[in-house]
Amino acid sequence: MLLQEPVQIGSLPIANRLVMPPMQTNKTHHGHVTEELVQYYRDRAVFSRPGLIITEHSCITESGRAAEGQLSIASDALIEEHRRLTDAIHEGGSRAFVQLNHAGSNGIGEAVSASAVSIPVKKLAKRPRALTAGEIIEIEEQFAAAALRALRAGYDGVEIHCAHAYLLNQFYSPLTNKRTDEYGGSLENRLRITVETVERVREAIGGEIPIAVRLGGADYLPGGSKEADAAEAGTLLEEAGADLLDLSGGMCFYLRPGHLEAGYFASMAEKVRAAVSVPVLLTGGVKAIGEAEALLRAGKADLIGVGRALLKDAAWAQEAFGGQ
Ligand SMILES: Cc1cc2nc3c(=O)[nH]c(=O)nc-3n(C[C@H](O)[C@H](O)[C@H](O)COP(=O)(O)O)c2cc1C
Repeated sequence: MLLQEPVQIGSLPIANRLVMPPMQTNKTHHGHVTEELVQYYRDRAVFSRPGLIITEHSCITESGRAAEGQLSIASDALIEEHRRLTDAIHEGGSRAFVQLNHAGSNGIGEAVSASAVSIPVKKLAKRPRALTAGEIIEIEEQFAAAALRALRAGYDGVEIHCAHAYLLNQFYSPLTNKRTDEYGGSLENRLRITVETVERVREAIGGEIPIAVRLGGADYLPGGSKEADAAEAGTLLEEAGADLLDLSGGMCFYLRPGHLEAGYFASMAEKVRAAVSVPVLLTGGVKAIGEAEALLRAGKADLIGVGRALLKDAAWAQEAFGGQ
């Protein structure tokens, strides 16, 4: 099976092409790692042995917190707690990345965003305040500091969250970014905060550690970002130093309106894959090993993410990967 074939992300070898994508579990205690959370990741690593587990989005600063139960990587005091997660994941032989996030106006901290525009599809969305250019740089530095913590905690790589209507995605989407400075307008400008974040993270963690970007490449909403934008963004992110493009939705969150099929973002992934030379990760709607294999064989992506199926059943891929 192609799914069982190894792959490289940057210079990091990954044993197979199955990925557990980031999923907030609410198993933390006010953002701290708990034994329940450690056990949850250990079970999936040991029983299903995905090549890569990307742990749930972690806030890079308390003011960028998405939810009360969200994991945090906002201070050095949390490094040892995250070490428990990476040790548990490594026990099963999987690689571990952490997803780094700032919620912007889609969280419980002060509502800040690219512009003073609420998230379009969210009920009771807060009306945010537009960030200044100085604050943008500060947030990029917070991403870099969090990445360095991740490295110290034993993660094999980091993922920058630019999807699902969180801060970086709010800059990327023309629906929420109405800026007229260098962070708004053209696609290149709307992606600038993410590109600069990749560059700052790279400076912080050095050349060897892979950086993934979860790109909410298309909003699938009138006036929103489109699949063709994702391909252009992919090339800019690759140039900036991204080693993996992890594709998902934008203002439509992780679902694609009107689509439930396995690999519902495949048409986007295909376009991005044709434009870049780094590996592309496709997630969404896969419920069976055969579906993941078919998407790989059809050349839609280099790796396949399986979220809810692994959330429900830690041993979902036990048979295919010979887990305990
Ligand atoms: C409970 C839950 C929590 C999620 N949390 C995150 C998250 O922290 N970061 C993220 O990028 N995506 C998150 N997602 C989206 C998943 O990573 C994935 O893209 C989505 O579930 C679609 O894949 P699936 O059909 O295989 O489940 C979450 C999804 C679910 C169901």
